[in-house]
Order: sequence, then C-alpha cells, then structure tokens
Amino acid sequence: MITNQMKLGDIVKAYPRAVTIFNDFHIDYCCGGKDRLEDALKELSIDPKSFIDLMNKKLADTKNKTEGDEVLNMEQLTQMNVPDLIDYIVDTYHGKERNLIAEIDGLMNKVLLVHYEHNHSQLVPLHSLFSDLRKELEEHFAKEEKLVFPYMKKSYLESSNDGYVKELEDEHDAAGNIIKEITACTNDFKAPEGACTSYRMLFGKLDDLTKDIFNHIFTENSLLFPKYEGGR
Ligand SMILES: [Fe+2]
Ligand SMILES: [Fe+2]
Repeated sequence: MITNQMKLGDIVKAYPRAVTIFNDFHIDYCCGGKDRLEDALKELSIDPKSFIDLMNKKLADTKNKTEGDEVLNMEQLTQMNVPDLIDYIVDTYHGKERNLIAEIDGLMNKVLLVHYEHNHSQLVPLHSLFSDLRKELEEHFAKEEKLVFPYMKKSYLESSNDGYVKELEDEHDAAGNIIKEITACTNDFKAPEGACTSYRMLFGKLDDLTKDIFNHIFTENSLLFPKYEGGR
C-alpha cells in the first residue's frame, strides 16, 4: 500500500512496477529518490488523493504483476553485495547506454542535416542537449569504471567518508536536468506530424536511452550507495 509519506526510491524498491506510472507522470524517482511522494506530487501540481488511489489500484492489479520485474529485478538486486551490484550495473547499463548513444549520434546528425530547413528550431537545441548529455555520460562512466567503482569494491567493508557518493549523485543530477530539457524539447519524444522514419527512430531511441538512465541512476542512488555507505 502506497502512502504520500513514502520516499520515491522506497516505493520503487517495494513496487518496481511503479516505474511505469512515475515515468508517465514525469515523477523523478531516480535523482529524486529521497523525495517524499507528497512533495513530488505537490511540485507537479498533481492531486495526491486521486494519484495514490490510481497507483494502489494499478499495483494491486495482478494481471501485470511481473511487468516491472523485467525492468528491475528488485529481489535479486537487494540481495547483491557491493562488488556484485557494481558488476551488474556496468554490465547492464553502461554497455547498453554506450551503444544507444552511438546509434543516436548517427541518427541525430542525419536528421539534423535532412530536416534542418523545416525543423531547425527543434533539432538545433536537441543536438546541443544530446551533445551535452553524451559528454556528461561518457566522462561519468569512465570515472565510475576506472576510479570510483574499483575503489568502492576494495573499501566497501570499511566505513568511509570519501565524498565519492556525493560527487556521483551531483553528476546524476546534472544528467537528469539535461534529460528534463530533452523531454521538453522533443514534446515527450513525440515526433512532429509527418516525420520520416529516421526522425521517429531518433525520438524512440532517445526515449529508450532516457528511461534506461532513470533505472540506472535509481540503481546507483537508491540501492548501491546506501549499501556502500552501510558497508554491505
Ligand atoms: Fe553508472
Ligand atoms: Fe552513475
């Protein structure tokens, strides 16, 4: 049973299927995992009573019970220790997102060139936002894989106050802010009327990338970092 005092990250841990509903309503459960549902709804001017009723109804519907488990296998993730969870994150998210970034990069250039004349007011800012996101992510992945994650794997059993968690959380916030701008710039990933296949594919891949990043950040902020700080 969901209540408005629960934190967004805790709701997703208890009900992984909540991710789909949160995405539909633009509720930020990844960078905003520590926020209470009540505050998140207030900020988005969503009526709490009807939203919570809707969530509890959808989550109680056993028809789609395994839907979110395919995206986030919470039972498996909560049982992993820090080194295993780090390996899982790198294998699951970093590889997939690098491939998506490379695909989007090619599509972005192609669509920008072909549709510049009629759609430059959308495509030029989008090109710039995507370039910013790619830069943030590539540098962030390198920092995690080459510096912070090896350190965390070695030191997770000792209590440490190394500042790395805060640094990574700040970088996640920066990526999350660019994603919010991309979502607005693409009208929530809806290609314009009559757009060609490449244009639609570009928007579809950007949608896939951002949803994957949400789960990725949630897994680090709400599962990995609390385990690391608790020495598990
Ligand atoms: Fe990561
Ligand atoms: Fe990260």
